[in-house]
Amino acid sequence: MPTIRTDLAHCVATRVIRRERKGSSSPVVAETTDGARFVKLHGASQGTAPLVAEIIVGELADAIGLSVPERSFVELPTGIPSDDQNDELRDLLDRSMGTNLGFALLEGGRDLTASEFGSANLVTAARVLWLDILVQNLDRTPRNANLMMRRGTIWLIDHGACLPFQHDWSSVTESHPGRGYDIEGHVFGWASPVLGDVHAQCAPLLTREVLRAAAQPVPDAWIGGDATRRREGFAAFLWKRLVAMERSFNAPEGA
Ligand SMILES: Nc1ncnc2c1ncn2[C@@H]1O[C@H](COP(=O)(O)OP(=O)(O)O)[C@@H](O)[C@H]1O
Ligand SMILES: [Mg+2]
Repeated sequence: MPTIRTDLAHCVATRVIRRERKGSSSPVVAETTDGARFVKLHGASQGTAPLVAEIIVGELADAIGLSVPERSFVELPTGIPSDDQNDELRDLLDRSMGTNLGFALLEGGRDLTASEFGSANLVTAARVLWLDILVQNLDRTPRNANLMMRRGTIWLIDHGACLPFQHDWSSVTESHPGRGYDIEGHVFGWASPVLGDVHAQCAPLLTREVLRAAAQPVPDAWIGGDATRRREGFAAFLWKRLVAMERSFNAPEGA
């Protein structure tokens, strides 16, 4: 029985080292009381919804044995020193005082190249595809794969655009969790023939308890509305989507 964690570690940032220019959400690398962290800031223009998705999907990826950088909360104190003196960055840091989301820094890691998309291990590729179907991740395309390579392991990054239904809870209907997914547009779409097997292996790992626990670390201030109800809402949506996936993978040919 895996241990179900309901909180993330906390640390305090002591210095901002640099901005990450590749990302659209202006992440930074910061020195903290617990070592260097890759930090996504709550004051970024996308708001806190991507941070919510990062926490929940990171927990689900862990639960099915995929590699995703460990998450932790990083407190940003007022007036934190920054080696990068850019004015826009200063404004962003000022807007992001308080709790932000840190990730273990993948030192020596690099973005996966297009030529590697087709040669990934079949089981890993299919698990990534399966997870992305579950969480409705459209950010794993050849142009924007959000996969890193480090010491021969593929790491999943950037789950900020997953769980898109959280942007409009009022439009979530009973049929919503059963919506289709564009497998063709996914970097690992070629692994789809084994999705049924992967579903049989992974779905039992995502019990209702695991789904509920995945949303527990999300801070109330990030989740909005009635936070307790919304955490339950994430778990309920994911559960219904798993049931819908079960039906589609077990459907007879041509159904
Ligand atoms: N944990 C990490 N450690 C080191 N570099 C990272 C880490 N996460 C992301 N990166 C690098 O930063 C870039 C942007 O990160 P990403 O999470 O995709 O941000 P965004 O949400 O802004 O697109 C990635 O393409 C990758 O090169
Ligand atoms: Mg990205």
